[in-house]
Amino acid sequence: MTLRTIVCAALAAAVLATVPLAGSAHAQQASKRVEDLLARMTLEEKIGQLNLVSGHHAVTGPYTRSDVRSAILKGEAGGLFNVYGAAYTRGLQEIATTQTRLGIPLLLGFDVLHGYRTIFPVPLAQAATFDMAAIEQAERIAAAEAAAAGVNWIFAPMLDHSRDPRWGRVVESFGESAWLGARIGEARVRGLQGRSLKSPDSVAACAKHFAGNGATEGGREYSGGDVSVRAMRDQQLPPFKAAVDAGARCVMAAFNAVDGIPGVANDTLLRDILRREWGFKGVVVSDFGAIEELIVHGVAENPADAGRQALRAGTDIDMESRTFVTQLATLVREGKVLASELDDAVRRILVLKEELGLFDDPYARSSPEREAATVGRPDHFQAARAMAEKSMVLLKNDRNTLPFSTKLQRVAVIGPLADGKADTLGPWAANGNPEDATTLLAGVRRVVGDTAEVLYASGGTIDRTSPADIAAAVKLAARAEAVILALGERSTMSGESASRASLDLPGDQLALARAVIALGKPTAVVLFNGRPLTIEDLDREAPAILEAWFPGSEGGLAAARILFGLAEPQGRLPMTFPRSVGQIPIYHDERPTGRPAGPQPKPYTTGYQDVGPTPLYPFGHGLTYTTFFMGTPRLDRPAIAGGETATVSVDVMNTGARTGTAHVQLYIRHRLARVSRPVKELRGFARITLPPGGVGVVKMPIGEAELAFWQPEGRMAPPSSGKIDVMAGPDSATLKSIILEYRPAGPARQASNTGG
Ligand code: BGC
Repeated sequence: MTLRTIVCAALAAAVLATVPLAGSAHAQQASKRVEDLLARMTLEEKIGQLNLVSGHHAVTGPYTRSDVRSAILKGEAGGLFNVYGAAYTRGLQEIATTQTRLGIPLLLGFDVLHGYRTIFPVPLAQAATFDMAAIEQAERIAAAEAAAAGVNWIFAPMLDHSRDPRWGRVVESFGESAWLGARIGEARVRGLQGRSLKSPDSVAACAKHFAGNGATEGGREYSGGDVSVRAMRDQQLPPFKAAVDAGARCVMAAFNAVDGIPGVANDTLLRDILRREWGFKGVVVSDFGAIEELIVHGVAENPADAGRQALRAGTDIDMESRTFVTQLATLVREGKVLASELDDAVRRILVLKEELGLFDDPYARSSPEREAATVGRPDHFQAARAMAEKSMVLLKNDRNTLPFSTKLQRVAVIGPLADGKADTLGPWAANGNPEDATTLLAGVRRVVGDTAEVLYASGGTIDRTSPADIAAAVKLAARAEAVILALGERSTMSGESASRASLDLPGDQLALARAVIALGKPTAVVLFNGRPLTIEDLDREAPAILEAWFPGSEGGLAAARILFGLAEPQGRLPMTFPRSVGQIPIYHDERPTGRPAGPQPKPYTTGYQDVGPTPLYPFGHGLTYTTFFMGTPRLDRPAIAGGETATVSVDVMNTGARTGTAHVQLYIRHRLARVSRPVKELRGFARITLPPGGVGVVKMPIGEAELAFWQPEGRMAPPSSGKIDVMAGPDSATLKSIILEYRPAGPARQASNTGG
């Protein structure tokens, strides 16, 4: 044994041993109905419950596709996914409950990542709202719509923590702050599951992908980075812990390996942490085909070995690899998997079905009347528009270029993203219909079309612009009083399997922008994209830039309302925008170095020779149409003891000429701890809307939960005592600070609600 192995083993033991065991790895006894059912099931029927089969995205009518139908009839489908539509899912439940021996209803899952039919901004954009009530409401609407179409289980929220915008799935993420991610995770679970899981407008949430899936190498999809215990406990796990504490009934085991062990076979993650330490009682589903991929990872010899490892580690449901249905019977007969382990998995699935009310009424969610009345309701679209407005981030606004006057007579809308309906909805838009989307061009026409002439040129495509396209766009722009340039990525450039090595604007869009901006007209760029981009050149040249993300069904209208001042830009960046790809990873909560970079480049300090140490736009950045003064934070007490909470107050004054909403962010830094702590970490935020000249105070709490981090001896707690810089301001780079002292009451206590 090398020294490193000994140290690692000792550390792992410490990490696990000192954590109180909140729950058993084995399911408790369930209801009489579930136990009776379990007692009557054959081995094959039990194994069938563990199999999850994909249906077809397209709903063609009330009849099932024959493969799905035969899977149910053969008893090889405990659940289906990629099926929706009230009449269709009613038919599926009918087959399961009336044409199989035990009549067990189906779990019906679907990826509803930012709305079902009413499409909300993509999750990264939702994070930019910093508005948990709006996020919860969006998920309530998504759940109500999907549930009305028969779906009872949604594969969201995605809680992967990533600091690498090359990874396409950052679009599904909450950005770079694990603390913010935990708050969003809770809100999304509450929204999806509602007050009661039994309610026909609630669905079971499935937090994914457990765990470390966002720690990619080089942003490459399906790659697994090396995740230390600290990175796991401080960044990857807290959002999942928050989702579990909020009652999430499902967790999806990840594709990637952590410390060499892929998610579906990782018993440290699934049994020791998720079930024993956190007391999770719900189901664990594999990611798509992930059990079979254990063989490709080189950790399982054959399908039997893969199935054995996955079940024994705590994976209950096999999504689409058919390993459980083909292997488990033999494994149980040979004693390689215990019958009790199989029973535990089946029991958890049946309990979930019971909690969803499926045994009482398998058709409750599949109501064509409710579906017609719920899906795409006008008030849902209004909520999507309101959220899109809250999510857009004003990155730059020189000389108050924005908002444009609504009295303009001629406005040019130019660019390949100006009228792309699918690109307005964004990637993975569930059952969203691009025809429902209001593009930016349509939005501008809605806002000023009655009074202004709205000129339009695509300026080429997202990937290609010819000199003729540019010439036509310039000619058109020359006729307008103001120009809106709609630039960015195709929606399919973000999402699963959409990693990019370059984060520049694709194609020749920069050349198009330069030619149009050179006219010197008041010009605003509107960016549509699912990740931070490297737009330093654009930033240098464009007078104004509005980050619209992929804003969903009403996104174009939301952007137009902001551009013309009918709504204010309120979003703040949940992820740092680098100057160049070479700076990645670059994020606000970096660790200190012994040789920090100063304001001027200096040899033997951290950084690069060819690019500065700062990002293009820091985490939390976002301008408004007015200006604010924010005071130095004040504390209601200089010190807190264990269990106490201090209140941080910040005075705010609107120093501009328009009513606006200030967004105050709170960061902390532990001055001294046994392990070096980040130079700043987001731990709170608050908003206040003020008229010109108006003054107000925002208040934010800070207690042990905010101060806690993973301690070397293996528990989540604040350091034993010490000084903490409490910093507040409009973004992570513009902060004023005060010192808070922390003195624990007795022996250091465990903080229960911060994860890990
Ligand atoms: C993705 C999951 C998704 C699943 C089912 C996988 O490829 O990684 O996030 O839930 O497919 O569609």
